[in-house]
Amino acid sequence: MDVVIEGRAWFNGRLEQCCIGIKDGKIAAVKRTLNGEKVYHYQDKIILPGAIDPHVHLREPGFTHKEDFATGTLAAACGGVTCVFDMPNTQPATITLDALREKREIARRKACIDFGLFAGVTPDNDLGAMAKEAVGLKMFMGSSTQSILVYEDAGILRALKEAERLGKVLSVHAEDERMMTKAPEHSLSDHATNRPPKSEVRAIERLAAPQSKAKVNICHISSAEGLEAVRKTGFTKEATMHHILLDASSDLKGMGKVNPPLRSREDREAVYYAFMQGKIDMLASDHAPHTMDEKGQEFSATPSGVPGVETSVPMLLALVKKGKLDMSVLVRCCSQNAADLFGLKKGRIAVGYDADLMMIDPADMTKINVDELHSKCGWIPYEGQDALFPAAVFLRGEELIRDAHMVGERQGRDVIVH
Ligand code: DOR
Ligand code: ZN
Repeated sequence: MDVVIEGRAWFNGRLEQCCIGIKDGKIAAVKRTLNGEKVYHYQDKIILPGAIDPHVHLREPGFTHKEDFATGTLAAACGGVTCVFDMPNTQPATITLDALREKREIARRKACIDFGLFAGVTPDNDLGAMAKEAVGLKMFMGSSTQSILVYEDAGILRALKEAERLGKVLSVHAEDERMMTKAPEHSLSDHATNRPPKSEVRAIERLAAPQSKAKVNICHISSAEGLEAVRKTGFTKEATMHHILLDASSDLKGMGKVNPPLRSREDREAVYYAFMQGKIDMLASDHAPHTMDEKGQEFSATPSGVPGVETSVPMLLALVKKGKLDMSVLVRCCSQNAADLFGLKKGRIAVGYDADLMMIDPADMTKINVDELHSKCGWIPYEGQDALFPAAVFLRGEELIRDAHMVGERQGRDVIVH
């Protein structure tokens, strides 16, 4: 073996003391004992598959004052994320093959973890041309930061048919533009009133109505009614830590402005319990960094979006340590399910899978401190909250992060076009 990692690894649905043998970046054996050229002895520390975050906005090209592929992927890696899927609302928007290829060249140079790129859906762009090189398709049914809107029936039907024909996941920002109001906003509750749960429900119903066989994935589910609507479909769904932990009564002001909005306590609790019970397929950070200056503006001028790629998994690990979340739910929702849905040989400690791993020392419980995070945006809505950051992170068998420092090379690669 090139590398052997010994510890208490998540294998066959439980933690087991074993050795993970790695050859050419892939897991080649999982056994009680193994020899290798390089051996990491982690005793009884926990080893989990690296997380896959299926929804981030790394802002490059176009908005690199907020984030870029170097800072965003370093933040991800420090939070145990070894693969991210980047959203198309950059500048230029990722809605043509040229733009997709331009973004891939930038990411190849700068990313320290693996990545997939979403192709954005417009009412009429050439999705067939992009599909071979994109991890999935992304459609916005409601307007948001720099979004590319599709809200007419014809455009939605076309996207469903193309997703089915091309065999690609269609991830959808499911807020129906026509169910929103545009009243002046001064607070998080005004923002939530303008974008009610009914708009989420209506968007989900419109996606379900044509009964297509496309693999539809509902991004950032945010309400009790939305959860009920999606339950009646065969769609997969993501939840974010901000919809699990925060609601419109918080005093975050513009810092908490996000789409879909932070809602009532009841809505938050519905998302929280659905997630804890394993009823939500994937954790997605929807990492959407904006600078402090941008977020400190008067409420109506503040752009929507909150960061989270570095803190999501560590906050969930803290919940596991406190006994509030099952490790099995965490592994499924942070790693396995995204890999399965998007068809990647990642997200599991099993032979033949990429050796993307994180090592956790349960003694490392800490409080989130923004000065120790790596996003360019410089703020986080979870300051002071409990978190358990990985002590080491491996990408395809190479140690990348140790104690929140990069010790490896920037070798991130596109999961679709190597
Ligand atoms: O709040 C949001 N911010 N929602 C989105 O859909 C986009 C995102 C962003 O890019 O800032
Ligand atoms: Zn998003």
